[in-house]
Amino acid sequence: MLQAKFFGHANFLLDDGRYKVLIDPFFTGNPVCPAKAGEVTADFILVTHGHGDHLGDAVAIAKRTGALIIAPNEVAVYCGQKGANAHGMHIGGKRDFPFGRVRLTPAFHGSDITEGDKLVPGGMPCGFLINMGGKTVYHAGDTSLYRDMELVNMCYLRGTQLDLALLPIGDNFVMGPDDAIFAVKWLHPKTVIPMHYNTWPVIEQDPVAFKKAVNETADVDCRILAPGDTFNLE
Ligand code: NI
Ligand code: MN
Repeated sequence: MLQAKFFGHANFLLDDGRYKVLIDPFFTGNPVCPAKAGEVTADFILVTHGHGDHLGDAVAIAKRTGALIIAPNEVAVYCGQKGANAHGMHIGGKRDFPFGRVRLTPAFHGSDITEGDKLVPGGMPCGFLINMGGKTVYHAGDTSLYRDMELVNMCYLRGTQLDLALLPIGDNFVMGPDDAIFAVKWLHPKTVIPMHYNTWPVIEQDPVAFKKAVNETADVDCRILAPGDTFNLE
């Protein structure tokens, strides 16, 4: 069994009972997060891009726990320079790790890292397609809707159905609920969990309306998680 715990925004912890994989660990400064960075444990940390609400506490958690950060190469190099163990990858590439397989998928967005009053170039952002605990999970990262999301279904999954899609619906910085419905149809996962909304007023959305739209247009289970909730992939 694989468990997905939601910490608010785009911050999830995948746990198969053997390994803990943290994605976009935004704890400090996350107004909806029920946990503190100092109390979280992880074996691996996946970071989609360099923005503060995704890179978050990755370096501090990695240094405290010894977790390996997996990120687009520029972000991985940055984390390495800050003293963390990090492994760089890039769009389209996949690699097997002790917990399973990770593939980086495209995301249309930015990735620069804010350091004081400077911006450090962070390269290209990504999403993650993760095979773990016998399940496949797609974390889209921060992205607009784009038609090549269909690559996940058409090519990468080799004819199997995606178990879980984590899709942003907040609009403004990423796709909104109306666009995310298309992503749900193209990806056709068993379950979709909306993310990256209601963290701040600028990305306020109604997840219940999104769930209703999903149920009306696609044969896909939509789960709304509150920060702190877990979802078990049976
Ligand atoms: Ni971002
Ligand atoms: Mn973001």
